[in-house]
Amino acid sequence: MKTAAPPKHSKILILDFGSQYTQVIARRIRELQVYSEVVPFNLAADDVKKLQPNGIILSGGPASVYDKGAPQVDKDIFSLGIPVLGICYGLMQMAHHLGGEVVFTGRREYGAGMLHITNGSQLFDGLGNQIDVWNSHGDEVTSLPKGFLTAGTTESSNFAAVEDRQRRLYGLQFHPEVAHTPRGKEILQNFVYHICRCAMDWTMGSFIAETCRRVREQIGNEKVVLGLSGGVDSSVVAALLHKAIGDQLTCIFVNNGLLRAREEEIVQRVFGENFHIRLKYVDASKRFLDKLRGVIDPERKRKIIGNEFISVFQHATEELQAADRRGKNRSYKFLAQGTLYPDVIESVSIAGNPSQVIKTHHNVGGLPEKMHFALVEPVRQLFKDEVRQVGLQLGLPKEIVYRQPFPGPGLAVRILGEVTPERLSILREADTIVQSEMEAADWYYKVWQSFAVLLPIQTVGVMGDQRTYENTVALRIVESQDGMTADWVRVPYELLARISSRVSNEVKGVNRVVFDISSKPPSTIEWE
Ligand code: XMP
Repeated sequence: MKTAAPPKHSKILILDFGSQYTQVIARRIRELQVYSEVVPFNLAADDVKKLQPNGIILSGGPASVYDKGAPQVDKDIFSLGIPVLGICYGLMQMAHHLGGEVVFTGRREYGAGMLHITNGSQLFDGLGNQIDVWNSHGDEVTSLPKGFLTAGTTESSNFAAVEDRQRRLYGLQFHPEVAHTPRGKEILQNFVYHICRCAMDWTMGSFIAETCRRVREQIGNEKVVLGLSGGVDSSVVAALLHKAIGDQLTCIFVNNGLLRAREEEIVQRVFGENFHIRLKYVDASKRFLDKLRGVIDPERKRKIIGNEFISVFQHATEELQAADRRGKNRSYKFLAQGTLYPDVIESVSIAGNPSQVIKTHHNVGGLPEKMHFALVEPVRQLFKDEVRQVGLQLGLPKEIVYRQPFPGPGLAVRILGEVTPERLSILREADTIVQSEMEAADWYYKVWQSFAVLLPIQTVGVMGDQRTYENTVALRIVESQDGMTADWVRVPYELLARISSRVSNEVKGVNRVVFDISSKPPSTIEWE
């Protein structure tokens, strides 16, 4: 398929030396509405030149320049006449290759520091005399290459910021891209706008257009299958790919019988009816519930659900292939995934290229290997809030874009003990009340998650003149940045009271509601 040439825009090239912060740099540049591209550290100077960047950033990295096999830059990039900013290990590379001296001090400087700005560098325009910075480095520059001057010092280093104004080469020993360097954004801004003279010409709209172009190039005339869970990530990928390749995309939505109330209806309405995306709806709830009968152990539940999902998904794609066979060729060659940057753990192999290791994705683990798909991961470089922006721009409704995370094994890990249709129905009713009261009180979008858990505990109650012996529901409302740690939210008592009263009055089979006041750690967010 022929695709139009990409439009010309400003560009920052980021050479990746394996820092965990490389994508954070890319994100900061996107925030400045400038396009950036992450490339391997050893891209040859000739190839760098061909890409015509306005500026180059050398990322940090875990190596020491003297390590055997340490990643080394092609030093000719320093003579291309393009501005270069070396961060941390990037600065060491610059000093090392341009005739300065770098030593491995043996002590790692790690943590907060104060940078004293000395020479009025353009990099620090508007920042005053000193700023808080965040350090994390082992090597240290002890003598500068010819042409370089000190631009800033810290208590432990005379060369914490350096520059060669003539050649427009800049180096920082600290990390301007992290939140712990609060004014780092302004440093990057000075570099990108004033030193590299980039224009603000890269928006979410440009990201979408460029991603569509790349996807079309990758897919050609082939077809793509996507497991749509209804979560933010897979939903945004569905909308994005649909924009790029239309009916070459088919989404598979598996109802595992463990979904929230009306979930299958919402997904079919939004994607099928509104977006006209080809959607294969598979109702496998009976299969899942049969397999879960009598199972109490949480890990066994998860395993059964995971395995069952793979087999249902595999069967569904085989049906698609069969219905759409072109001669002997498989037409669905690609599997799309909503992998985000935080799902990708970066590591650097000492021998050479920084490599990327994919964390097994909760919901689709094991799929691609078994089915020989090539992967399409169009939001792999984005962070969650950026994915949400893309979703909004593509016209996805707020109830999808800002929805709370929901675990792959669904309500099964919120029903303690055996999962039965009756207990599912009790939990769904309670969960619907929790969600609607959270929304009505304007709390739903302020918290990480809010949900009900059905306990395998019956207690005595009273209703009218009758003694009851019914189930207990626990209410879990937590705040969190990333799900790794969490705390319970101090929502108003009135809200708790409303939820409690409605659940115990309206949900048949429940006569008691308790509020979970545990943080993670030591607890987890889900109860199983
Ligand atoms: P925990 O319970 O481990 O949960 O504190 C942390 C976050 O992960 C979600 N979670 C899952 N998400 N598949 C998922 O897609 C799973 O198997 C799964 N288990 C937990 C949980 O909802 C919380 O946001």
